[in-house]
Amino acid sequence: MYLVALHGYPLDHRIWDPLAARAAAGALGPITSVLAPDFRGRGTSLRPAAPVHTMSLLADDVAEEVSRTLPPGEPFVLAGLSMGGYVAFEYLKRHGARERGRLVGLALFDTKASADDDAGRANRREAIEAIRRDGIDAALSAMLPKLLAARSKGGPAEETARAMIRETPPETAMADLAGLAVRDEGFQALSGWEKPLLVVVGDEDAIAPASDAEAMTAVAGRASWVSLVTVPGAGHLVPLEQPDEAARALALLAEATRRDSAREGTLP
Ligand code: MLT
Repeated sequence: MYLVALHGYPLDHRIWDPLAARAAAGALGPITSVLAPDFRGRGTSLRPAAPVHTMSLLADDVAEEVSRTLPPGEPFVLAGLSMGGYVAFEYLKRHGARERGRLVGLALFDTKASADDDAGRANRREAIEAIRRDGIDAALSAMLPKLLAARSKGGPAEETARAMIRETPPETAMADLAGLAVRDEGFQALSGWEKPLLVVVGDEDAIAPASDAEAMTAVAGRASWVSLVTVPGAGHLVPLEQPDEAARALALLAEATRRDSAREGTLP
């Protein structure tokens, strides 16, 4: 079983590296492989940045990558962190029905299902202007202090977060922000989700706090299994800050998908 793992803004696939290592070592139960694509315009992506990275555009890119990379029929859990979670909601809306047979579970890390309000959109516009004026350092100084729990600061998670932000091209970050500002809410997609759902939040997450996580589980009344995990000593980047906790939670989700499949008499 694969984990298809979507990163946040202004980050890249490296937030999932600790989980990929744990999957390969057997710590994620039936999940043994991780596909963690970079969204367009950064890192290993072959796609150039677009003027606006709408969540639907990024979701369509992911769908293409999943079709190209996963072995036919291979089951997968879809995971998204923050912006990656917003993209996951669009993926469900646009590709969920087609992938119904093999999309077996959903994991939402440090994310929320609400859209931006007017104040949020105004902040995005200011953030775009700051990057246009000062380059990616504007994103670094705006985001880095908010991303990590107190105990992660000054450690390897901060080093990785700084590198990811610094290496994000400014036009990519601006296109992400423009897309984040116009995104739809994800509650409707969540309320229709019928398979196992894991929601994980760091207890020091300053961007998508526990109240957002609770709001998501509250609407997931049709999910066959729901777990809300609050991780102590983590901020907005649980998979990087507390990967063992994240791995444990994902292993339980994967086991729940197995029980679902056994009940339905299907693989895996
Ligand atoms: C993220 O981590 O992807 C962003 O903080 C999401 C957001 O700004 O809404």
